[in-house]
Amino acid sequence: MSKPRNKDSMSNIMTVALSVCFVCSVMVASAAVFLKPQRMANKNLDRVSNILMAAGLRNIGSEEIMAEFKKFEVRLVDLEEDRFLSSLEISDLGIDLQTYDQRRASRDPEFSRQLLDEEDIASITRRARYSIVYMQRDEGAITKIILPIHGYGLWSTLYGFISLSGDMNTVSGITFYEHGETAGLGGEVDNMTWKASWNDKQIYDGQSVALRVVKGKALENSPSFKYEIDGLSGATLTSRGVENLIAFWLGEDGFGPLLKTLGS
Ligand SMILES: Cc1cc2nc3c(=O)[nH]c(=O)nc-3n(C[C@H](O)[C@H](O)[C@H](O)COP(=O)(O)O)c2cc1C
Repeated sequence: MSKPRNKDSMSNIMTVALSVCFVCSVMVASAAVFLKPQRMANKNLDRVSNILMAAGLRNIGSEEIMAEFKKFEVRLVDLEEDRFLSSLEISDLGIDLQTYDQRRASRDPEFSRQLLDEEDIASITRRARYSIVYMQRDEGAITKIILPIHGYGLWSTLYGFISLSGDMNTVSGITFYEHGETAGLGGEVDNMTWKASWNDKQIYDGQSVALRVVKGKALENSPSFKYEIDGLSGATLTSRGVENLIAFWLGEDGFGPLLKTLGS
């Protein structure tokens, strides 16, 4: 008669542990593969709802989000030549606006360039050459333009959108959809009241970006009030990061020259 197998032997324990690991990893990998389309769709919905939020559209149900988004004109900007590209130019570049990933493009030497230290005020190292922007028009005239923005805060790169009115100078909304700043400190970039305080602020004083995130409170009777945003308390470094990313993206190496052409 053969000896009964020792269930507590090392080889038995290892076999059971490895089998459990194998089964679990297959389940996790399968879930990741099967749920990928759903994850991508959710990510897209989140991006679109942030674009709408920057445009001032809030509290809309998920079923209305895509319908609202269809009302926006989607254009690709060439940030080297400061102009919109035509559909033909976009397809010649092999870019599909539905799937264009500006973050990935900024890592691709063919579609981006390394910024010089003196240019890199938002601490982003590289800038993609092409950027998607979203617009609304009324009888042909642009009434709103929504621009993607990003830059380094204290712990992380903040990604968001800023919306400007048709004068290409007045802020009509801002939102950050991704960052790793501390909740309650730098994370207050998500605070609704703080974001609302950006509305009607002015970006440019003449040719240059004048908008600042000040330390403490912006003073209502100060002549520069229209260019000032309250600093986030206990988060001077995140506040400075936000000020810097605005200065970059609305400045000469960002959308500044295009906005000047559109606003004139
Ligand atoms: C755990 C921890 C998390 C912090 N997170 C942030 C942050 O997200 N953003 C920020 O600007 N400062 C953050 N700070 C504070 C900074 O280290 C720094 O002291 C602060 O930016 C100075 O701002 P203040 O002059 O407004 O106090 C954090 C500090 C600690 C200890």
